[in-house]
Amino acid sequence: MNTVKIYINEHKDRFVEELIELLKIPSVSADSSYKKEVLRTANFISESLKKAGCDKVEICETPGYPIVYGEKIIDKNLPTVLVYGHYDVQPADPINLWDSPPFEPVIKKTAIHPEGAIFARGACDDKGQMFMHVKALEYMTKSGNLPCNVKFMIEGEEEVGSKNLSWFVPRNKEKLANDVILISDTGMIANDIPSITTGLRGLSYVEVEVTGPNRDLHSGLYGGAVANPINILTKMIASLHDENNHITIPGFYDAVEELSSTERAAMAKAPFLLENYKKALDIEEVHGEKGYTTNERNSIRPTLDVNGIWGGYTGEGAKTVIASKAFAKISMRLVPNQNWEKITELFKNHFESIAPKSVKVVVKPHHGGQGYVTPIDTIEYKAASKAYETSFGKTPIPQRSGGSIPIVALFEQELKSKTILMGFGLDSDAIHSPNEHFGIWNYLKGIETISYFYQYFTELSKK
Ligand code: BES
Ligand code: MN
Ligand code: MN
Repeated sequence: MNTVKIYINEHKDRFVEELIELLKIPSVSADSSYKKEVLRTANFISESLKKAGCDKVEICETPGYPIVYGEKIIDKNLPTVLVYGHYDVQPADPINLWDSPPFEPVIKKTAIHPEGAIFARGACDDKGQMFMHVKALEYMTKSGNLPCNVKFMIEGEEEVGSKNLSWFVPRNKEKLANDVILISDTGMIANDIPSITTGLRGLSYVEVEVTGPNRDLHSGLYGGAVANPINILTKMIASLHDENNHITIPGFYDAVEELSSTERAAMAKAPFLLENYKKALDIEEVHGEKGYTTNERNSIRPTLDVNGIWGGYTGEGAKTVIASKAFAKISMRLVPNQNWEKITELFKNHFESIAPKSVKVVVKPHHGGQGYVTPIDTIEYKAASKAYETSFGKTPIPQRSGGSIPIVALFEQELKSKTILMGFGLDSDAIHSPNEHFGIWNYLKGIETISYFYQYFTELSKK
C-alpha cells in the first residue's frame, strides 16, 4: 500500500466521525432562522482548516454569510491549487419523507453503497465532498507530501445563488491567485465507472405572478365571467413548449451551440441503460426534446421547468373560489454561450406578451449564472485523469453535467484559471431530496484521488 492509502486506512473512522459532526449543524442558507447555525458552520470549517495544516485561516465577512479562506504556501515558485466548496445546504423539506432526521447523521448500507453511506442533509452536497479536500490536505501536510501551494475558499451561499461570492472574488483577485481551481460538488457515473465533469449548465430563475380580479371571488357567482388567474397561468406555462418539447420563447435557442455528430457520438459512448434509468425513477417512459437522447437532453440542451406553482385553495376539503392571484417559480437551464441575463429578458418579454388583457402579469428575475465547458487537452485535465487512473485503475470518462454551479464561469473570467470538477457523488445519492447520502467508499476514494491530483498537477506543471 502507498502512503496515502495507509494514512486513510489508519484514520478513516475519525474522518467519518469528523464529517458527522459537521453534518449535525443545520446550515440552511435559504432560511434566515438558521443564521446562527450557518455562522457556526463557518467556524467549524475554519477550525478544521487550521487543524489540517493551513498556516493562515480567515473568516472573511461579506454583506451575507462569510467566506472561509485558508492557505498553506510552501514556495512561491510552485503552482497553487485553489479549492472551492460550500458549507451551506438546501432546506431539508419535506421533513416527513426522511427515514431519519436530516441533521442527525446515520450510517446505513444500501445496494449501491454496500460499505455504508452517511445519511444527512449536505452529506454529498457539499459538506462531504468539500471535507474530502480538508482531509486530503491533512494527509499531505502531516505526511510531508504536500507538493505545491494550496488555498481554500469555502462559501455559505451557494444554494442561494452565490451573490456575495460574486462580490468577493473581483475584490480579492491577488489573494485568490492560482494555477487551477479544484471543486468537488458534482457527481460521477458509477463507482466502477469514474467520470470527470467537463461542463455545467447555466441558469435563469424567475418567479411569475398573475393577477386577475382584485379579490378572491365566489366561483359560482363570478365563474365563467372573469379570468381565473390559475387557469390562465397554467395555459401560459403550457404554451412555453411545443408538441416536440421545444421551448417557444422567440430567440431562446439563438446562441445554443449544436454539437457536431462526432461530439455526439463520443457522448453516446458513455455507459447508460435507459431501462435502468426508467426503473430507478418508476416511470414508463422518458420525456423531452425531440431529436435528442436522454443524456443529451440533460446536459447539452437547454430546458424550462416549473419548480413550484401555487394559488387558490389547497387546504382540506373544498372551497369554491376564483383566486385573485396565481404564482409559479420557473427555472431555465442554459448551455454555454446562452447569456443568462439575455435569456431572463427574453422570458420576461415573451411571458408578458402572451398574457391576455384580462390579467396582469409580473415577472421577477431571481438569480442566474453562465454555463461552463472545459477543454480536456490541458495540463489540469490530464493531471486529474491520471489521478483517477491511479485510484480507480480506470481512465475517467469526460462528461457534461446538467447541474449548475454558476460561480464557476465567473472564476474563469476573474481569476483566469481553469476549473477541474472532481465529483464523487452519484445521481442516486439524492442531493436536494429527502434521504440525501454519501457513500463512505466515495468519501475515502475522493480523499485519495485528490491527493494524487496535487502530485500529478505539480509534476506536469514543471515540464
Ligand atoms: N452541487 C450542486 C450542483 C451540481 C450537482 C452540479 C450535481 C452537477 C452535478 C449545487 O449545489 C447546486 O445545487 N446548484 C444549483 C444552482 C444554484 C444556483 C442554486 C442547481 O444546480 O440547481
Ligand atoms: Mn453543491
Ligand atoms: Mn446544491
